[in-house]
Amino acid sequence: MTTATAKPTGLEGVTAGDTTICQVEQTSLIYRGFEIADLAANATFEEVAYLLIEGDKPSEAQLDAFKAELVAERAIPTEVTDWLRTGVPTLKAGTAVPMDVLRTAVGILGHMDAQCQEVSHDANIAKAKRLTAKIPTVIGHMQRVLEGHEPVDPATGGDPTLSHAANLLYQMTGERPTPEAEKVMDVSLILYAEHDFNASTFASRVIAGTLSDMHGAVTGAIAALKGPLHGGANEAAMDMLSEMRSDIGPDNDDAKIEAWMQEAFASKRKLMGFGHRVYKNGDHRAGILHALGRKAAEARGTEFAKLFGLGEKVQSIMLAQKNIHPNVDFPCGMTYFTMGIPVPQYTPIFVASRITGWAAHIIEQHDNNRLIRPRASYSGPALRKWNG
Ligand code: COA
Repeated sequence: MTTATAKPTGLEGVTAGDTTICQVEQTSLIYRGFEIADLAANATFEEVAYLLIEGDKPSEAQLDAFKAELVAERAIPTEVTDWLRTGVPTLKAGTAVPMDVLRTAVGILGHMDAQCQEVSHDANIAKAKRLTAKIPTVIGHMQRVLEGHEPVDPATGGDPTLSHAANLLYQMTGERPTPEAEKVMDVSLILYAEHDFNASTFASRVIAGTLSDMHGAVTGAIAALKGPLHGGANEAAMDMLSEMRSDIGPDNDDAKIEAWMQEAFASKRKLMGFGHRVYKNGDHRAGILHALGRKAAEARGTEFAKLFGLGEKVQSIMLAQKNIHPNVDFPCGMTYFTMGIPVPQYTPIFVASRITGWAAHIIEQHDNNRLIRPRASYSGPALRKWNG
C-alpha cells in the first residue's frame, strides 16, 4: 500500500504532467516553440489558433483553408440563440452572468454536434474548430439580445470578410471596428490563448482524462475560468478601478490614490489583476498589452488616458510597497474598457481565445490518455464507530 504524501497547498510548484503545447518560464511564454512577443508582433490570432489546434505553424494554403473553415462554422443553431434570449432575464436579474450563459450555450452546442461523443483525434480537431468559430458568435448574439437588438447576421455569424478579432467586435456592436481596434483585440486574443496547466486548462484535462467529451471539458473549463482568481480577474480589475475612480474623483490625485491603497492594504484586500502563481517578477504578457492599450486610450482621449494613468500609479504603489506585479488581466481590463466593451463580457472574450489552448490540451490528453487521479492527504477524524 502506498501512503499519500501532502503536497504544497494549491499544488504550487508541482509538475502535474508533460505537454508539447506550451512552456511557461519566468521571462518567457512559448507556444509550441514560438515566444509570445514574437507571436504578438508577427502573427494573427488565426495563425496562433492553427498552431495550437493543428500542432504547427500553417503554410499559406493551410492557413487559407483553416480561415475558410472557421468562417463557414461561425453561425450558431437557432436553438442556441433561443437559449441566449431565455438567458436575458437571468442576466438582468443578476442570477447569471455572461460566463454562465456562455457555459450553457457551449453545452447546447455539444448536444447539437454530431461528433459530440467522439474522442478521436480527427473528431476533436473538427470540434475544436467549430467551438473556436462559434464562441464569438455566442458572445456577440448574447450582447445584442441583452441590449434589446437582433443578432448581427445570424445566418453567417457575422461578416465573412472580417478576421476573427474584427468579427467578434462586429457581432457585439453591429459596427465594423477600425483597424486599430481590430489589432488590439487580435493581440489580446493571442496573449490569452494558452498558458500550460492553469486552473481551467487543468480542469479540462481532468475531465478529458476520464474520456469524457470536448464540449463537456470546455464547459468545465469555462466554469473554472470564471472565478476572479483566474480569468474573472480582467472584469474584477476594471470593477476595482471604477470603484477607485468613484472614490477618489477624476483627478488621479496622488494623495487620494495612496490613501485608497493604504486602506486596501490595511483591510488585506486582494487587488485584482495583480500577482501570479508562477510569475513572481512580472507577467510578460502584461507589458505587451499595456503598451497597446495605452496607445488606444491616448487615441480615444484624455478620460481614457487618465484611466491608464491611474492604473500605472496603482502598479507603482503595488510594486514599491508589496513587490507584486500586474498580471495580464490588469491591462486587459483597462484596454477592453477603452474599446467600449461591456465589463461582463471581458471574461467571455478570454474564452473566445483560450478555447484554442483548451482544445489543444484536450486533444493532447485524449491522444495519449491516462486517467488523472491524484491522492489526498487525509487530516479528518480518526477511525470511529457509527453506533459507538
Ligand atoms: N493583492 C494583494 N496581495 C496579493 C495579491 C493581490 N492581488 N496577490 C498576492 N498577494 C499576496 C498574498 O496575500 C500573499 O501575502 P501573504 O504572504 O502576506 O499572505 C502573497 O502575496 C503571496 O501570494 P499567494 O497568495 O501565495 O499567491 P497565490 O500563488 O496563491 O495566488 C493569485 C496567485 C493570482 C491567485 C493571487 O495573486 C491573486 O489572488 N491575485 C488577484 C487575482 C488575479 O489577478 N488573478 C489573475 C491571475 S492571472
